[in-house]
Amino acid sequence: MILDSLDRPLRDLRISVTDRCNFRCSYCMPEHLFGKDYPFLPPDRILTFEEIYRLAEIFASLGTKKIRLTGGEPLLRRELPVLIAMLRKVGGIEDIGLTTNGSLLKTFASELAEAGLERVTVSLDALDPELFFSMNGKRGEAAQVLRGIEAAAEAGLSVKINMVVQKGVNETEILPMASFFKEKGHTLRFIEYMDVGNANGWELSHVTSKQEIIKIIDAKFPLKAVPPAYPGEVASRYEYMDGSGEIGVISSVTDSFCSSCSRARISAEGTLYTCLFASRGHDLRSLLRSDMDDAMLKAEIANVWNLRHDRYSDERMHTKEARQKIEMSHIGG
Ligand code: GTP
Ligand code: 5AD
Ligand code: SF4
Ligand code: SF4
Repeated sequence: MILDSLDRPLRDLRISVTDRCNFRCSYCMPEHLFGKDYPFLPPDRILTFEEIYRLAEIFASLGTKKIRLTGGEPLLRRELPVLIAMLRKVGGIEDIGLTTNGSLLKTFASELAEAGLERVTVSLDALDPELFFSMNGKRGEAAQVLRGIEAAAEAGLSVKINMVVQKGVNETEILPMASFFKEKGHTLRFIEYMDVGNANGWELSHVTSKQEIIKIIDAKFPLKAVPPAYPGEVASRYEYMDGSGEIGVISSVTDSFCSSCSRARISAEGTLYTCLFASRGHDLRSLLRSDMDDAMLKAEIANVWNLRHDRYSDERMHTKEARQKIEMSHIGG
């Protein structure tokens, strides 16, 4: 196991399999910036499944236990279940997850389960059809995402829901969403709106804090805080006192969790980032396509991790420096 300069292990690897998405959420890929002519990556600049598999083996040998596939929208990547079946064979990987917008989940749920996927996280910011439609750039129907969630559960996948809360936009959906998914038995996680990338015009005043979210839910459905399910878990967990399951809150803004951050990210084009808010990364694709052997590649990656000192969310409030950051759709969230 290797450690970074702040003694954090490299336990999780998040791999983006495409930079494309069929939604245009205003906080991630706003339509006016990601329009018809947006230069998405051409196929030869995207890692192949064999390259991803090779990296997964190397990361596993450095102590990585968990892999999460992200995008853009990962289900737009052709044959994704094939990649999942390949990653299942990597020794040392105990958990594979997928974060999706759910729009194509009805089509793929059973194939994903057959390939060996055990759990899926679906992003859904509102149940209200019109609000959801406007938040995703008028591309996706809430009903379709709900059908995807239903299909995933029927296929035997365990399902979590992610809801990004934006002040003045979808706070009114906090209780309806909590109530709906409490009933369904799926864990709902509320994400504080973050300043990822440079495209979303983020301001602190647009954030609904973890405390505010908890207060709203606790008033209707009493909650109690419970410890993390595993070391370094991103969400703070709360159980419903009536025993009907749990929720999570991901509070990168008001209660950051960098001290336990064990996550590395690889973009679809094979760049390694050591923080969600990084300005630059390390080009692994060129190394994969050079004559480097696995031992050399492993040493390169270990060196990047050893030097890592990122803690952007811890520092956000205390620094005035405006940095150029990588976009969420590129780094995968
Ligand atoms: P589980 O494996 O189910 O615990 O999921 P996860 O929370 O690791 O993955 P998921 O993709 O559901 O993450 C939820 C969201 O939390 C991400 O999309 C990000 O918005 C946020 N998040 C995850 N990791 C980090 C991180 O390292 N830093 C920050 N600031 N936010 C993160
Ligand atoms: N702030 C918080 N969460 C975000 N996501 C995308 N952009 C942001 C942002 N600016 C969420 C998505 C998805 C996950 C990958 O990250 O909704 O659930
Ligand atoms: Fe697509 Fe997810 Fe970004 Fe929305 S947040 S545009 S669904 S990648
Ligand atoms: Fe990890 Fe960077 Fe997020 Fe902090 S801000 S938890 S270092 S990804």
